[in-house]
Amino acid sequence: MTRTVYVNGTYLPEHEATVSIFDRGFLFADGVYEVTSVLDGKLIDFAGHAKRLQRSLDELEMANPTTEDELLAIHRELVRANTITEGLIYLQITRGAADRDFAYPEGVTPTIVLFTQAKTGLADNPMAKVGMKVISIEDQRWGRRDIKTVQLLYPSMGKMAAKAAGAHDAWMVEDGVVTEGTSNNAYIVKGNTIITRQLGHEILSGITRAAVLRMAREAQMKVDERPFTIDEAKAADEAFVTSASTFVMPVVEIDGVAIGTGAPGAVATRLREIYLDEMRKAAI
Ligand code: PDD
Repeated sequence: MTRTVYVNGTYLPEHEATVSIFDRGFLFADGVYEVTSVLDGKLIDFAGHAKRLQRSLDELEMANPTTEDELLAIHRELVRANTITEGLIYLQITRGAADRDFAYPEGVTPTIVLFTQAKTGLADNPMAKVGMKVISIEDQRWGRRDIKTVQLLYPSMGKMAAKAAGAHDAWMVEDGVVTEGTSNNAYIVKGNTIITRQLGHEILSGITRAAVLRMAREAQMKVDERPFTIDEAKAADEAFVTSASTFVMPVVEIDGVAIGTGAPGAVATRLREIYLDEMRKAAI
């Protein structure tokens, strides 16, 4: 099916959509993005994604070509036009097209692109019943991972390394401690404590992470935001990741070592249920 996409103020069929070869997103990865999930035809945590988008833009001194209300209307129109009941909406904003120059150009109109990916089985993901396998790799990304830029080559390399090793994803390690997964935040559980790295420039402040930690605290679970090592993760009772595309996903193996019983843990399974239940109710 031909998708309807949104480019710079216009809805059009995907094969008619174009951006300039001089777009700085293409030349410099000078752009930011967001991924929002859709369940039951409604947006999950749209406000959180809109807020983080604005922060990413501000950090890069990039103009926002839309208001939050306009952005919401575009998301909804793409859901409608593409009859998405379950899936993902990708939003990319770049600094725009300009003569090639490392310095930011002035007076350039940002490029904005949104497209959908229909994906059944996001909520009812069979992987949630068996869990993911991860490998560990060195974190070789740049130092401002809190900005959600379209610079995703190292995470792609990490995914390929995981695939080659027969795993699903990679957890990245810097200075001996885990930063995050290639496209998700990483957690371990020891006793009744959920451990996940504290926020900073080293990781993306996950929108799912914020909701899941809030729900965990509300459910009287203990949360410790601190770094952990791969050895600590291997000795943990449970492990899991969170993201807009996986929600809460159990991790059952790290570098070939089974975590806990080697099956999805009770904490991750419960948090997934709570998250899906609450977010479905709050979806817009
Ligand atoms: N990835 N860390 C990284 C490096 C990410 O790329 C993502 C999201 C997350 C989780 O953030 P959130 O909970 O807001 O989705 C953490 C998206 C899903 C992607 O690139 O497809």
